[in-house]
Amino acid sequence: KKVVLTGIKPTGMPHLGNYLGAIKPALKLAEKYEARYFIADYHSLNTVKDADTLRDYIYEVAAVWLASGLDPDRVLIYKQSAVPETFELTTLINAFTSKGLMNRAHAYKAQVDVNREKGKPDDHNINMGLYTYPILMAADILLFDADLVPVGKDQVQHIEMAADIAEAVNRNYKDQLLTIPQPYIDESTMIINGLDGRKMSKSYDNHIPLFCPEKKLKKFCNKIVTNSQAVEEPKDPENCNVFALYKLFASEEQQKTLAETYRAGGMGWGYAKGELFNVLNEFISPMRERYNELMNDKSYIDKVLTEGAEKARELASAKMDRLRKAVGVI
Ligand code: TYM
Repeated sequence: KKVVLTGIKPTGMPHLGNYLGAIKPALKLAEKYEARYFIADYHSLNTVKDADTLRDYIYEVAAVWLASGLDPDRVLIYKQSAVPETFELTTLINAFTSKGLMNRAHAYKAQVDVNREKGKPDDHNINMGLYTYPILMAADILLFDADLVPVGKDQVQHIEMAADIAEAVNRNYKDQLLTIPQPYIDESTMIINGLDGRKMSKSYDNHIPLFCPEKKLKKFCNKIVTNSQAVEEPKDPENCNVFALYKLFASEEQQKTLAETYRAGGMGWGYAKGELFNVLNEFISPMRERYNELMNDKSYIDKVLTEGAEKARELASAKMDRLRKAVGVI
């Protein structure tokens, strides 16, 4: 069986983009493949530097995985930090990763661009965690022999880097020590746009949190940016932030009906936003309920993560053992 693996960084409640781009496809793939999903807590440490906040965020991501339908009896779920072999493998692959590769990483380059725009030195606001982010991520992936990594478009480069690093290791030891991972991308959900039409992202503050209370969800729907066409004008559904999200949750029938209403004219944006809220809320409500239950009594999450950590470490320590021998430290 192929191995599918992905991680979510605990930086606050995951948003619709995280759900549609990674969580939903990951859970679908879990029906067919050996699935290993985790909470990338040490990746968050680059930005989340308050201990209680990070603790809360970890619970939130765990609860999101479970409320979204992850069955811990069939899918391995664990915290990255609970698998110390990850950090040993990070050290190992450091020796096979050129600095130039890190210089080309999008996330790092984006921060350099921001610095230049603001007239700051290139290294401003860049810690080594950000700079070496793709190496830790490669270790996450390679440690568990992942074949497929379901992610949004923004993570594809990281997976290609993991593949490059794995090839460098395999080439050196003339052995298939590490599995070459491939990104798994769904065209229709690889970039979900946010309230303002740019890629949905917490850093743009344009995101819709997956399990916010119903009233807030309604507010978020109403905040989606639309053009300034008057009510009576016919509108183009294919060129609209509201309809783009609607499509991802509504049935074919519902999509057809709303598209016709757009084109007929006489529809105000408030109506379209209300329709979006309805399908979204209907889809999310049962999961939100489960999420709230899980967050009210965290003992189930604790149990699942403790068991997951144990199983993950078994796999990881066997893998690391083989790698230690291969490189000659034992
Ligand atoms: P993170 O936590 O930022 O995002 C989690 C997943 O959500 C996807 N995503 C999106 N997909 C579609 N549209 C969007 N607007 C959108 N925004 C985010 C991301 O592509 C990601 O798949 N580095 C990773 C976490 C990680 C990881 C790993 C992933 C750490 N180690 C190993 C896979 C394998 C990250 O920051 O994701």
